[in-house]
Amino acid sequence: MGPLSAPPCTQHIKWKGLLLTASLLNFWNSPTTAQVTIEARPPKVSEGKDVLLLVHNLPQNLTGYIWYKGQIRDLYHYITSYVVDGQIIIYGPAYSGRETVYSNASLLIQNVTREDAGSYTLHIIKRGDGTRGITGNFTFTLYLETPKPSISSSNLNPREAMETVILTCDPETPDASYQWWMNGQSLPMTHRFQLSETNRTLFLYGVTKYTAGPYECEIRNSGSASRSDPVTLNLLPKLPKPITINNLNPRENKDVLAFTCEPKSENYTYIWWLNGQSLPVSPGVKRHIENRILILPSVTRNETGPYECEVRDRYGGIRSDPVTLNVLYGPDLPRIHPSYTNYRSGENLYLSCFADSNPPAQYSWTINGKFQQSGQNLFIPQITTKHSGLYVCSVRNSATGEESSTSLTVKVSGPCHGDLTESHS
Ligand SMILES: *[C@@H]1O[C@H](CO)[C@@H](O)[C@H](O)[C@H]1NC(C)=O
Ligand SMILES: *[C@@H]1O[C@H](CO)[C@@H](O)[C@H](O)[C@H]1NC(C)=O
Ligand SMILES: *[C@@H]1O[C@H](CO)[C@@H](O)[C@H](O)[C@H]1NC(C)=O
Ligand SMILES: *[C@@H]1O[C@H](CO)[C@@H](O)[C@H](O)[C@H]1NC(C)=O
Ligand SMILES: *[C@@H]1O[C@H](CO)[C@@H](O)[C@H](O)[C@H]1NC(C)=O
Ligand SMILES: *[C@@H]1O[C@H](CO)[C@@H](O)[C@H](O)[C@H]1NC(C)=O
Ligand SMILES: *[C@@H]1O[C@H](CO)[C@@H](O)[C@H](O)[C@H]1NC(C)=O
Repeated sequence: MGPLSAPPCTQHIKWKGLLLTASLLNFWNSPTTAQVTIEARPPKVSEGKDVLLLVHNLPQNLTGYIWYKGQIRDLYHYITSYVVDGQIIIYGPAYSGRETVYSNASLLIQNVTREDAGSYTLHIIKRGDGTRGITGNFTFTLYLETPKPSISSSNLNPREAMETVILTCDPETPDASYQWWMNGQSLPMTHRFQLSETNRTLFLYGVTKYTAGPYECEIRNSGSASRSDPVTLNLLPKLPKPITINNLNPRENKDVLAFTCEPKSENYTYIWWLNGQSLPVSPGVKRHIENRILILPSVTRNETGPYECEVRDRYGGIRSDPVTLNVLYGPDLPRIHPSYTNYRSGENLYLSCFADSNPPAQYSWTINGKFQQSGQNLFIPQITTKHSGLYVCSVRNSATGEESSTSLTVKVSGPCHGDLTESHS
């Protein structure tokens, strides 16, 4: 909308003059000009654009018109007026420098700002000699189009169930209200959702696949509303292997173990579990817990696990997959079974050796220092006195490199007389 091709003469007048001018206009209150309508073009204007308040069905033979901002017709709200005689334009205190009134009473507002939204009153004064004249005020409400909002996220790829995501509905718009939707529905009332005071910011605590979205936000003012495009969060899978460990096959009472719980964040606390009990379990075992790193100066065969770590933030926690150690130990001192030592000729000798060991020990037998056989069990049928001697079971663990042995002195006595008689008869 350009200015009039033949611009009217304009005139800035002082307050005194304005008051005088205003008082010269006649203020009747006969509402006989009801057909006057005001239309905004475009119907909704966005910030920075121009809008024309078009006046339709303007009566003939008018003295002039006054535009007020708001619905109160006083000097303070006086924007501008047009005096038909002399085509005089008068500006009031509410004039911002961006309003242009035309001879047909229409009002152009350029470079619309937020403050321009709201109601306007057009006061029409008809020419007349007092009582025959008509006057009317017509209010019109100008709505600013809410901008199409967009959602910004502090983190579009949150770790499932662990991370807090902050969604913000942009832009910040004064006098507007914000509303959020998830999956096309209003937000469920749980502790996992929290809104800022203005509802513009949405805090999502511990996003799961059920709360990953899509999210939409809406900006609404009294005249219009617009919704953002949906935003869906891309969940990173839960921590798959939160425990890292320096040695899965530690040697009993030898190797120092360091478990590390991932991920690292100052916002998490770490809790360790052994066999489902939070550590430290017993004061007998020395353990050093250093936040997310668990150091075991040594482990025993009884402490194979499962070890778990739990990562907690203020909204909950998740536990790692269990880790089980393969503690290498032994061989312990072997035991020979049976342990009795006196045999008679002709009996079967059956000895078994066992030493606890991981991995299982390798066994070998010597008799009187001479290698007899390998294997756990020694079987000699029908022994004679020649089989008396020192029986040694040696065990070796190839993984720990440890060895051990036990001996048993076997005495074989001669056959009893009766037996001999029988056997020789
Ligand atoms: C009033 O004048 C303006 C500016 O010339 C024009 O754009 C508008 O259409 C006119 N209004 C009517 C109702 O004719
Ligand atoms: C306007 O005023 C003129 C004279 O001042 C008169 O002739 C004319 O009829 C009036 N028109 C209307 C619509 O009142
Ligand atoms: C409207 O804004 C433009 C660009 O900011 C400026 O050049 C122009 O003078 C402004 N018009 C009015 C009437 O304030
Ligand atoms: C014009 O506005 C005043 C308030 O400013 C109101 O009292 C009056 O009734 C209105 N007149 C018409 C015709 O709407
Ligand atoms: C924020 O939204 C809630 C409902 O979700 C509503 O009751 C409340 O009035 C809103 N607050 C503001 C400041 O818009
Ligand atoms: C810890 O939490 C604060 C506040 O919630 C956040 O600003 C910061 O980025 C978080 N730090 C990490 C490493 O996640
Ligand atoms: C392992 O546990 C058993 C019984 O729970 C106990 O008798 C044994 O002494 C423990 N061994 C070690 C090396 O701590």
